Amino acid sequence: MSGLIRLRGFIQAMTRLADSGAGEARWLTEGAGLLRGLVAKDDWLPAEMAEAGPTYRQYLLHCDPTERFCVVSFVWGPGQRTPVHNHTVWGLVGMLRGEEVSTEMRPGPVGGPMRPGQVDRLRPGEVVPVSADTYDIHVVENAFADRVSISIHCYGGNIGAIARSVFDPATGAARPFISGYHNKAVPNLWDRSQELAA
Ligand SMILES: [Fe+2]
Repeated sequence: MSGLIRLRGFIQAMTRLADSGAGEARWLTEGAGLLRGLVAKDDWLPAEMAEAGPTYRQYLLHCDPTERFCVVSFVWGPGQRTPVHNHTVWGLVGMLRGEEVSTEMRPGPVGGPMRPGQVDRLRPGEVVPVSADTYDIHVVENAFADRVSISIHCYGGNIGAIARSVFDPATGAARPFISGYHNKAVPNLWDRSQELAA
């Protein structure tokens, strides 16, 4: 199995998990297991969803029709990083290529600098959760200054359309943030002609 068949199978399994009424705890265990399976092999991400740009890019790979979850390819050019941000929904981050570093950011004194907390370095094949139960505010960066890194993220909603916040690490001040997506079209999972011809 390779290529989009692998992504399609993952999305089908995630959809079945959503249909079963999974709450956050099951997403962060059973969903994490599914994502671990997806990022165990790096042979399926379309090249156009792996292109780096002048800032980090988020390519939507799939959004559940009722926005119960989404799947996004995050592409980090050399040295690129996010602003300090929150999510407001559960998330799963699976490392596909290269490595990234996530640093929790905790509120400091009112009007004062935020403080770094837990630091996670992800290597290919590893999956970590994001949850309000652990920490919801972090900054993520490419661990490498000389190559692209790519991680596959799942969230408990249509993350590009969720009203969230970015934070000034010097003051803790929040401002509204809706990330959107870089791509205008999602991968076509449903052209089975080559599989059927094989
Ligand atoms: Fe994040």
